[in-house]
Amino acid sequence: MSIPHEWVVVTGGNRGIGVTITSKLLTCGFGVIALHKTQQKNELLEHLIQQRADALLEYGNCNVGSEEDVQNFFHRSETGGLDLVGVVHCAGVQRKGDSIEDFRSMFETNVYGPYLMTKRFAEYRRIKFPHTIATAIFIGSTSGLHGDTGNALYAASKAGLHRFVTGSLPTYADVLRMNVIICGPVGGERSNMDPDALEFHRKNTPTGRLTTPDEVAHVVAFYIKERHLNLHGSAIALDGARTRHKI
Ligand SMILES: NC(=O)c1ccc[n+]([C@@H]2O[C@H](COP(=O)([O-])OP(=O)(O)OC[C@H]3O[C@@H](n4cnc5c(N)ncnc54)[C@H](OP(=O)(O)O)[C@@H]3O)[C@@H](O)[C@H]2O)c1
Repeated sequence: MSIPHEWVVVTGGNRGIGVTITSKLLTCGFGVIALHKTQQKNELLEHLIQQRADALLEYGNCNVGSEEDVQNFFHRSETGGLDLVGVVHCAGVQRKGDSIEDFRSMFETNVYGPYLMTKRFAEYRRIKFPHTIATAIFIGSTSGLHGDTGNALYAASKAGLHRFVTGSLPTYADVLRMNVIICGPVGGERSNMDPDALEFHRKNTPTGRLTTPDEVAHVVAFYIKERHLNLHGSAIALDGARTRHKI
């Protein structure tokens, strides 16, 4: 069995879009650590690693909004000698409500988590692999761009994520390339959106279809494989021009 020497962390890698990203990276030959908060193994991923003896997948319980969990995760990675070349910040919470708890949970996972993970990932790279370039990819949302999405707190958290990335580019440029994939509504058979909402979004998308999880995974894989390019601070809108159409 060939042991991949490059590993990628996918937060929220065990569910939703994260599963497709994890499986894409496994088929590209990266080892993947899928971090989750509550649920653990994923059936599709388990099936994939049974089919491919060379695919290396680990799950890790890590609440990205917990300083202690994030510290422990990177401490274990440092002592385990893993070469983590990328972190895909896919974990996200989307709630419709506007309670204090809704605010706390969305900002904790969607903004504070990426902040904690990025800070600690950069430290890890500076200690273990100084003068080399790794990558951090952030799954943003068109909700965070403009307009009334009917979900103010989620939109605010994603806007906060986008600005965290652009504002942090100089701080981490010595070890990380940081880029955002700004997704419109993502369709596909595993979408957790109700069919009426999917159809509404599809009709409002100039390309006539929604972005698929495979397309998100494809762009993620590009950013990881091409992390040595001088590509730092890009924000790709992967939304079939839905947002442009509304301008
Ligand atoms: N779906 C869309 O249409 C769409 C559109 C634009 C952007 N996005 C963004 O794309 C990302 C994935 O969306 P999705 O719909 O695939 O999400 P999802 O199915 O709801 O899955 C969310 C994932 O995040 C993990 N997670 C949540 N809070 C966490 C925390 N504090 N620490 C660690 N892991 C945590 C969950 O882990 P557990 O299973 O353990 O709870 C789960 O794996 C999100 O950032 C979302 O905002 C989605």
